[in-house]
Amino acid sequence: MMYPEMRMRRLRQSEKMRELVAETRLHPSDFILPIFFDQNIKNVKTTDSMPGVKTFPLSGYEKIASDIQSSGVDSILVFGIPEKKDAVGSGAYAKDGVVQKAISGLKEKSDLLVIADLCLCEYTDHGHCGVLDDDGCVINDETIELYGRTAVSQADAGADIIAPSGMMDGQIAAIRRALDDAGHKNVPIMAYSAKFYSAYYGPFRDVANSAPGKGNRAGYQMQCGNRLEAMREIELDVAEGADIIMVKPAGPYLDIIREARDRFDLPLAAYQVSGEYAMIKAAAQNGWIDEERIMMESLLGIKRAGADMIITYYAEEAARML
Ligand code: PBG
Ligand code: ZN
Repeated sequence: MMYPEMRMRRLRQSEKMRELVAETRLHPSDFILPIFFDQNIKNVKTTDSMPGVKTFPLSGYEKIASDIQSSGVDSILVFGIPEKKDAVGSGAYAKDGVVQKAISGLKEKSDLLVIADLCLCEYTDHGHCGVLDDDGCVINDETIELYGRTAVSQADAGADIIAPSGMMDGQIAAIRRALDDAGHKNVPIMAYSAKFYSAYYGPFRDVANSAPGKGNRAGYQMQCGNRLEAMREIELDVAEGADIIMVKPAGPYLDIIREARDRFDLPLAAYQVSGEYAMIKAAAQNGWIDEERIMMESLLGIKRAGADMIITYYAEEAARML
């Protein structure tokens, strides 16, 4: 049947009719909120390039958690800014490190699901995601040993899920082994499997103060145009024992999300990163776009592409609108 018998507009004629045939829906449980703790501050801090994103001191966990949970969001991804940085990022795996303290405080005072981002770049004085050789190149195999130690310290502090974001080879296997050896057999790994070398991380590095001093991350993060390589990265992470896989960034990589969804049966996360958020915020602040609609459309697009869960700085705002 074709026009004039067939009319697509029949199912678009009312709000109720459209709701009935909706193929993709967002729910607060889809969202994971990234949250930052800074060991050097006493009061909540903001960052110009990330309007609405707060950095918290190591206190007031009950209020932080209840504010988040009142929006309907129950999952967070924790980042830390340490008191001191050094060449080997020792703050990342210190027993009394910033993230370890934040995690145990939050777990003690709330029932939030706490995911720990695992990397060294916030903790190294050179800003790279691992330890460097004399030429300034990240040494893979020494770095993943430190990732293992970091994972154990985060799980010891009470982290529900460990999320390694450093893009080192063999990191998932090394972390799985370290966690199991330490008795954390039931702590899942959310692998930043296909993490691209993206300019969209800029505002995050303002918040986390983690831009590399010399060089860049092109030697370990993936080049933006490589779709097949992204599938190999995911495949390896699955083989190494990842429980959840991730594509990052999200908006400019919807094809990668779709292909990962079609190829793999694991839960799939997508990270709407700082630059994606900051661009929407900036345009909205100029009055150039309708922020609420663009926020929802960007998140719906990520879910329609195949993501089961979305890490987003819009988590609370979006959840409140649903
Ligand atoms: C740490 C890490 C980064 C992000 C998440 N984990 C920064 C980076 O790789 O440079 C970026 C998140 C964002 O931009 O929102 N490796
Ligand atoms: Zn890093």
